[in-house]
Amino acid sequence: MKPLIIAIDGPAASGKGTLARRIAEHFGLAHLDTGKLYRVTALGVIEAGADPADPAAAEKAARNVDFARLGEARLLAEDVARAASVVAAIPAVRAALLEAQRHFAHHPPAPAKGAVLDGRDIGTVVCPDANVKLFLVASVESRAERRVRELRERGAAAIYDAVLQDMRERDARDSERQVAPLAAAPDAVRIDTTQLDADQVFEQASDLIARHCGLRR
Ligand code: DC
Repeated sequence: MKPLIIAIDGPAASGKGTLARRIAEHFGLAHLDTGKLYRVTALGVIEAGADPADPAAAEKAARNVDFARLGEARLLAEDVARAASVVAAIPAVRAALLEAQRHFAHHPPAPAKGAVLDGRDIGTVVCPDANVKLFLVASVESRAERRVRELRERGAAAIYDAVLQDMRERDARDSERQVAPLAAAPDAVRIDTTQLDADQVFEQASDLIARHCGLRR
């Protein structure tokens, strides 16, 4: 049987990670946060003492990505996030990570009957055949506020203006790059999360997925 594939895309701190986790748990699907693959790649480059903008070093790190590292706390640091958006603009890095993402979607680990992938290009490039595509959007100010809250909850110092500036730069890099930029697929359903809390986003998304795929809510 063909696995059920849910694609969730959107900019940083739009709520897609939280939503993807909850959707996966709710419907018994496997979850892959594809941003973590770019973060592990970036961390590999940093650990090698190389420059994230160096295509050869970044491609090497992408080819050696270890899925066992996806849960490491170090990946959440802002320097890694920044470097991740730099390596993500390198075509050879995206090509190296593409197969692993598609394999996860089409062969989710048992007993899952499908997979939820969240990222920037899941609906457009990685899984254009996904059963449901969601595209989350939110104002850059509300996303910066969320990121500040997350950072402070983790005990990190965070200054709103700096986070906002960083978010704008990262948005620009993710949206303006040549290969697989952040974009909504024509058949994606957009959800604006600016005024919604995580429960409300989950309600809307799970309702839509259940209806579309004939699942029980
Ligand atoms: O979602 P995140 O912040 O963990 O993503 C880290 C970086 O990786 C981000 O700058 C965009 C990039 N990324 C991407 O280009 N394509 C994806 N499918 C996922 C993330």
